[in-house]
Amino acid sequence: MKIPLIIIIFSSLLVVLFYSQTNYKDYARVHNCSGSCYDNELKNSGTPSERLHAKMMSLSNKTTVELGKDIYSKNCAACHGGSGEGGVGPYLAGKNNIVDMLQAYKDKKTRGTQSAIMWANAQQLSTKDMENLAEYIDTLGN
Ligand code: HEC
Repeated sequence: MKIPLIIIIFSSLLVVLFYSQTNYKDYARVHNCSGSCYDNELKNSGTPSERLHAKMMSLSNKTTVELGKDIYSKNCAACHGGSGEGGVGPYLAGKNNIVDMLQAYKDKKTRGTQSAIMWANAQQLSTKDMENLAEYIDTLGN
C-alpha cells in the first residue's frame, strides 16, 4: 500500500510546526556559548545547577533582618531615609505596625494625603517581604 505523497508532506509540516512552537527552539540562541567559551564559563561560575544552588544558599543564609534591609535600601530609603528618619515620606524608625500599614497600602487604602505614592510601592511586597521589612525597621530604633 502506498501512502500518498500529500499525506507525507502534510505530516512533516505538522511536525515542523509542532517543534517550532516548543520552548526548546531558542536554546541555542540564548546560550550562545559553546566549546571553549562554555568550558571557561564552567570553570569560572560552575554549572547552571551549581550556580542556582549557590544562589539559593546565599538567599537562605540571609536573616530576615538582612532580607528586609535589602528591600529597604533599594526601594524605601530614598524616601524614608537611610535610618528610617524620614524625608519625602514620614519617619519609620520606632514604629511597630509596619506590616499593617503596608498591607493597607497594598489594598489601596487611603491613610494619609499621599497614600497613592505608597500604593505602587506596596504592590510588589509579599507578606514575607513586609514582615522582613518590619524586622529590619525594628532595628533602626527611634
Ligand atoms: C517615592 C517615595 C516613597 C517610597 C519609595 C516609599 N515610600 Fe513609604 N511613604 C511615602 C509617603 C509620601 C508616605 C505617606 C503616605 C500617606 O500619606 O499615606 C509613605 C508612608 C509609608 C508608611 C506609613 C507611615 C506612617 O507612619 O503612616 C510606611 C510604613 C511606609 N511608607 C513604608 C515604606 C516602605 C517599606 C517602602 C519600601 C518598600 C516605602 N515606604 C517606599 C513615600 C515613599
